[in-house]
Amino acid sequence: MSVHPITLSQTGFVHRDELTYPFEERGLQFGDGIYEVIRIYAGASYLLTEHIDRLFRSAEAIRLDLPFSKQEARNLLTELLNQNEMTSDGIIYLQATRGSAPRVHAFPGDVPANVYAYVQDMPRKTKKLTSGVSAITQRDTRWENCYIKSLNLLPNVLAKQAAQENGSYEAILQKDGKVTEGSSSNIYLIKDGTIFTHPATKHILHGCVRMRVEEFAHDLAVPFVEKAFTTADIPDADELFLSSSTSEIMPVIDVDGIQIADGAPGSITRELQYQYEQDAAITHVNV
Ligand SMILES: Cc1ncc(COP(=O)(O)O)c(C=O)c1O
Repeated sequence: MSVHPITLSQTGFVHRDELTYPFEERGLQFGDGIYEVIRIYAGASYLLTEHIDRLFRSAEAIRLDLPFSKQEARNLLTELLNQNEMTSDGIIYLQATRGSAPRVHAFPGDVPANVYAYVQDMPRKTKKLTSGVSAITQRDTRWENCYIKSLNLLPNVLAKQAAQENGSYEAILQKDGKVTEGSSSNIYLIKDGTIFTHPATKHILHGCVRMRVEEFAHDLAVPFVEKAFTTADIPDADELFLSSSTSEIMPVIDVDGIQIADGAPGSITRELQYQYEQDAAITHVNV
């Protein structure tokens, strides 16, 4: 894997080792910031417009002034890929915080946002995409504004850790039995040819891949119903899958040790995966 040392910061492009922040930093001390993870295929970004739009929605929701326009963000991130001579599959991680200031809870006043973005290699999870993954269910203990892609990820971290300790790929989060989403993904259940998923309310992150899943379903004439399913529905599901920028459209074949249908990725999930590969112009396979 290659190293991609050029990092975007609020002062321009710098080597990653030059990026230092004081310990009194709003992101570090309060999680007072937002972020995005953008998929890169063969050096080119996928769903960049959707990610930048969501970044601006998150910024508005937490009243954070970003130091660039949407078009400038697009140009800067494209320049970041160019400067790193990115040609592989990977991600851009971008975060923006309310800046560096002495620690008091209220906004610090006239302090500029701290912004950085870097590039990292990330091969596609081809084997898992082909055979499917397992998941566990966990209580969704998060706050009421999960549509904001906030740096406060402690409940997500704990849920994912529980999944990992169980040998599972993802934690499916439920509130009063209703499935909201995964710890780092959106979740869908297929029953009798219809896709069910939690509506895009404040209780879930409005995934960029989720937006595409809805369009793919429409193109395939598969009904896409925004209605939360419950954990009790899962054992009777015909198919289950999750989506995210890093996991793409990932079949889930086992939940809490119970096999879903015949334990293999279902036909609608596989059709959606095909649509995804077409949309992302994926022409190569790497394992
Ligand atoms: C909680 C949560 N839900 C959903 C998603 C999927 O979002 P996207 O499709 O934009 O990657 C993520 C992505 O990391 C996430 O953290």
